[in-house]
Amino acid sequence: SDRYCVFGHPIGHSKSPRIHAAFAEQTGEAMTYEAIEAPRDDFAGAWRAFAAAGGRGANVTVPFKEDAFRMAEDLSPRAQRAGAVNTLWLDDGGRLHGDTTDGVGLARDLEMHAAPLAGARILVLGAGGAVRGVLEPLLATRPASLTIANRTAARAEALAADFADLGDVRGGGFADVAGPFDLVINGTSASLAGDLPPLPEALFADGALAYDMMYGAEPTVFLVWAAERGARTVDGLGMLVEQAAESFFLWRHTRPDTAPVREMLRQAL
Ligand code: ATR
Repeated sequence: SDRYCVFGHPIGHSKSPRIHAAFAEQTGEAMTYEAIEAPRDDFAGAWRAFAAAGGRGANVTVPFKEDAFRMAEDLSPRAQRAGAVNTLWLDDGGRLHGDTTDGVGLARDLEMHAAPLAGARILVLGAGGAVRGVLEPLLATRPASLTIANRTAARAEALAADFADLGDVRGGGFADVAGPFDLVINGTSASLAGDLPPLPEALFADGALAYDMMYGAEPTVFLVWAAERGARTVDGLGMLVEQAAESFFLWRHTRPDTAPVREMLRQAL
């Protein structure tokens, strides 16, 4: 059977092995999927060892997405834009391909929640790698505008400039944010520390959706704050499953049904 894995550091809490095992069982694909902790300073060596042992492809998570980007011989256009790779695979000729599925994963999860997208006013919080990776698929949904707000305003401005050819994209600091917005996506890592970005009270339009790319057993501080202000709230667990399904499709050319896997993970939180 074909071997796949996820590389990260740390990797102990990754849900990816469970997700891909469920996909493989559901679709009858003969494959295994394991978690491998690569050394921080030698991702390339870890990949080479895995490939030499029969590895066909891999997911890549923190902190190796840029290493994977540099290592891939053939990059998809969306990976080039993102500057990051979360999915690697070898073709029959032994050529190493790199793609990123985080952005489509987010877009698909947003669609499943009937989020306002086409014609919507979208606000994205954060300007790090996680946000860069999702901007192209978000802009492909044809929002009216997309505003990027970040603690370090200059990073948001630079990111907006990089994507300005794809739509009405603006960048600035939190103090510059002027609502209302139909969709607000938290792509900062502030939730990890239990921090809330300093946001204005009047942020949400009627029927607005607040989305946090993080998830956990309890709602994040951002989602609690948003719910108190009348927004519908969704966490990032669905995005995790949808990006995994897209990687699975790149490797196996078959699309698993994500609904039972989403449900399984939610129960296990
Ligand atoms: P990632 O790959 O998760 O995006 P990153 O590139 O380190 O990681 O980016 C983290 C993001 O979360 C950045 O937008 C960061 O803001 P700065 O660019 O100003 O550093 C944001 N962030 C992290 N902790 C935060 C906090 N406590 N409050 C607000 N924003 C925070």
